[in-house]
This record gives sequence, C-alpha cells and structure tokens, in this order.
Amino acid sequence: MNNFPKSPGIRMAPSLLAADFTRLGEQVAMIEKGGAEVLHLDVMDGHFVPNLSYGVPIIESIREQSNMFFDTHLMIEEPQRYAESFVKAGSDLITFHIEVVNNPLAVVEHIRELGVSVGVSLNPTTPVSAIASIIDVVDLVLIMSIWPGFGGQKFMPEVLPKVAELKKLLGSHQRLEIDGGIGPESIGLAVEAGVDTLVAGTAIFRQPDPVAAMRHLHRLAVDAPGGDN
Ligand code: DX5
Ligand code: ZN
Repeated sequence: MNNFPKSPGIRMAPSLLAADFTRLGEQVAMIEKGGAEVLHLDVMDGHFVPNLSYGVPIIESIREQSNMFFDTHLMIEEPQRYAESFVKAGSDLITFHIEVVNNPLAVVEHIRELGVSVGVSLNPTTPVSAIASIIDVVDLVLIMSIWPGFGGQKFMPEVLPKVAELKKLLGSHQRLEIDGGIGPESIGLAVEAGVDTLVAGTAIFRQPDPVAAMRHLHRLAVDAPGGDN
C-alpha cells in the first residue's frame, strides 16, 4: 500500500461505483495496472443517501487482489458504528459525512485509533464552518460537487468557492478531495480552486478505455493552473 494521503502530488481516485460489477476483479486489476494508486469506494445506506451500493464483503474481496490505497467514502448514518468493519475489510482511509455526526471529534479519534487515515466530507450546501472543530486533525477533506447517492450527475461549480476557502485553511500534510461530476470539462476548475485528489467514476470506468481516460484526466489536472504543486 502507498502512503496517500500524506505523499504530495495530484492523484486520481477512480470510483468503483461506475465499474462493471460483473467483472469487478478484472476492472480493479486493469485500473491498478494502468497506474491508479487510489481506489474510491462508495458505501451507501439508503438513509443518509437515497441509494444502496456495496459494503464490507466487496471491499474485503478486492483487498485480496489489490495494493491500491482504499479511500472509503461512507455515505451512511452512524459511521462510528461501522468504521471498524470497513477498516478490517482493508480500508486505508475512512471518510465520514459531517452532516450525520453530533460529536465529530469523537468520530475522528475513533477512526484514528483503528489505525487508518481520517477524512470528513461536506455536502454541496454544508459550509466550511461545520468542520471547524476538526479541520486541524483530519487527513483529508472531501467536497461533494453533486448531491451524494448516484454517479453520473452534473458537476456543481457553485462548490468551488468552498474549495478555495478550504485550500487556505488546510496544511500541506492534508489533502483536499472533490467528488461528483469530475470529467474533462470540470477537472481543471477543481484543481485551480485547490483540489489535489479527484474522484471520477463515469469519466473513467464508463469510457471505452478506462486507463486512457484516467491518464488523460490526470494530465489535464497536472496541466491546470495550480496543478503542479
Ligand atoms: C456519489 C459518489 C461518487 C460517485 C461519483 O455519491 O460519492 O463517488 O461515484 O461518480 P461520478 O464521477 O460519475 O460523478
Ligand atoms: Zn464518493
């Protein structure tokens, strides 16, 4: 496993949600062989978001064949109740949503005690002030640029000011990730605003050549203003 999110540089985080689930193993192997270091894993509970995806057994299975950094995005209520299962399944980073917790610091400490990196995510209309009590102690902040629940939605440029605001507040050891509607048209805007970690599902796995699509997106990100730092 690599040491993301602490190592510097722009990273693509392909979202498995858009993969062909009849060929999950092949798809994971293909994207890893193609150079992906991070795999974004979307867990949904049908409560916090109006959809269900996959959970522990799938993550456990792909862990057996992959060395990528597993970036697990919990779109669930009660993240503290399930975090340990997702760490045992092989997650390297657990990101929870600020909207579902009463005591965010306790959740951060719980996840950290499990021995993995900790991220916090904000829905499109959740202000940066919502994470004030934990901003200095998380490894990553994930900005949703769609309403979570489904892949294939349109990028919401109105979240970009929030990205720029966060970029100023975060230290160089912390990562800033964006999720939702990232593709050739939006990726440069996100990087210019300050993002260094870019989730993309549809724009990678739903393309005829996912590896070429990922490399192209990475190139666009690195070449965008601010992309080389
Ligand atoms: C949706 C998930 C996203 C999703 C992104 O709630 O959090 O990670 O896979 O999909 P695209 O890249 O298609 O917008
Ligand atoms: Zn996600």
